[in-house]
Amino acid sequence: MDFKKIISESVQPHIPRAVSEQEITSLIETPKYAHHGDFSFPCFQLAAHLKSSPVTIAESLAKAIRSPYFKKVENIGPYVNFFFNPATLSTDILLNILSKGSNYGSSTIGKGETIVLDMSSPNIAKPFSMGHLRSTVIGNSLSLLAEKCGYQTVKNNYIGDWGTQFGKLVVAYKKWGDRNTVKKKPIDELFSLYTKFHVEASQFPELEDEAREVFKSLEDGNQEYLQLWGWFRKESLQAFQQLYTRLGISFDSYRGESYYNDKMDEVITMLEEENILVKSDGAMVVKLTEEALPPCLIQKRDGATLYATRDLAAALDRFRSYSFSQALYVVGQEQRIHFQQVFAVLSKLGFTWASNMHHIPFGLYLKNGKKMSTRKGHVILLEDMLNEAVKLAHKNMIEKNPDLPNANEIAEQVGVGALIYHDLKNERTNSVEFSMEDMLTFEGDTGPYLQYTFARASSLQRKGETGTETILALDDDESWGLVKKLHAFPEIIHQSQASQSPHYLAKYLFETAQSFNKYYGKVRILEQDAQLTYRLTLVSAFTTVLAEGLRLLGIKAPENM
Ligand code: ARG
Repeated sequence: MDFKKIISESVQPHIPRAVSEQEITSLIETPKYAHHGDFSFPCFQLAAHLKSSPVTIAESLAKAIRSPYFKKVENIGPYVNFFFNPATLSTDILLNILSKGSNYGSSTIGKGETIVLDMSSPNIAKPFSMGHLRSTVIGNSLSLLAEKCGYQTVKNNYIGDWGTQFGKLVVAYKKWGDRNTVKKKPIDELFSLYTKFHVEASQFPELEDEAREVFKSLEDGNQEYLQLWGWFRKESLQAFQQLYTRLGISFDSYRGESYYNDKMDEVITMLEEENILVKSDGAMVVKLTEEALPPCLIQKRDGATLYATRDLAAALDRFRSYSFSQALYVVGQEQRIHFQQVFAVLSKLGFTWASNMHHIPFGLYLKNGKKMSTRKGHVILLEDMLNEAVKLAHKNMIEKNPDLPNANEIAEQVGVGALIYHDLKNERTNSVEFSMEDMLTFEGDTGPYLQYTFARASSLQRKGETGTETILALDDDESWGLVKKLHAFPEIIHQSQASQSPHYLAKYLFETAQSFNKYYGKVRILEQDAQLTYRLTLVSAFTTVLAEGLRLLGIKAPENM
């Protein structure tokens, strides 16, 4: 059911043929105030066609339009305001939602197309940073939204498992490391070895040379170093995996930087053949002057390859493997230039598909206005953060509902959900002020508020018994407000997907939950009267939409809280 179509079809017979239905539809507006109706149609454009004033046109349109869809059509000045008749529309809208269930809002927009996502991508031997958390959470929601719109998706976790830091790590481990300590807490221990390396190297700079040599010989295939590297990688991945399990996120590929180590020659050959690889200060670069970008560094003086070179090889591999229609790199905005360079180099090589590659940047997490960091001193390990969120969720829940069964399991879903929602409700590119207390309150724009509203509606559903009697739609403002919201779900999904912005969906879910709670506060839903079935149908449609919306954000919806 398309609200705007209903309106344009009712307007069309009363105006000159020259004005198309499409044109009418594009003019329809949503009024600021509810007492101005559900939609309004401004008559300024028609004035020229009808050689009359917009106000006169609006007046006569308002008089002429009659339809069972409208409760009232009136004009205010040059605007025709339409008030839908909930009694004729609500039942169809709600039954449509219930018949589609969790498929409500799904579409086939992306049928036959593949979106490849580069997401999460933490570095081995370094802590999982707040930036990696954002990339994981945003990337996951983007992939769920894409699938909802009919795309195939491939989630790539492009692990940072190669590069000069591994020379440092091997040197540090051989000097100060211990096997069992690494086994017990791999990320912590490897990171502290890495940190120790830097502290020592500031006193003994010759350590840097040693590390460079070790990395060079690692690249050349030194067995002992390769084995150590493989072991660090395995331990780190297992530790990351625990986080992913808690976040409920999985990947289709873990091909990281090391995978491309022996696949860069091809790229370098291509660059040479195109004559765009030039020497600069002993290093090999691609100049990007026309693109107004700094030169892209391809090969260092000592022959070692670089981050950008690996990204070029990875892009080629991905296009060959998946012939993607879009490749999205969900990576912090500080890497903006890097991605511009990589895409520009691919374009220079004549790959037209480079124009389908997009960097999806995001802002920082802030604590008291300053960048929140997992480094030096303020090591906020993600695991500790999750535990803290879950603990606080548990406390808040028990205050509300001391006898809650499965409290631990639900607290995990609420704590994790709170963190995810706190991230996704913000416009991606904005910075996010991190506050554990704020994100876990049950009132306001939070994950727990949405989950709690879901549990409340689920409990109504369990308590209410619906009969088989025909549904009598109501036409009170509260229920109509909610029905209209539920009706907008497919459009919101489309908008969020197309703009790669889960915050539209988050905002929508919050407003819809508010609209439900307003209804819940005003109306006795379980009252045994003629409209009971209608109200329960509305509750049921609401839970369908909220559960599906939360799923698309990557948040669980427990039925009890
Ligand atoms: N590992 C990198 C980092 O932590 C992020 C990788 C992003 N993806 C890419 N294809 N470059 O900074």
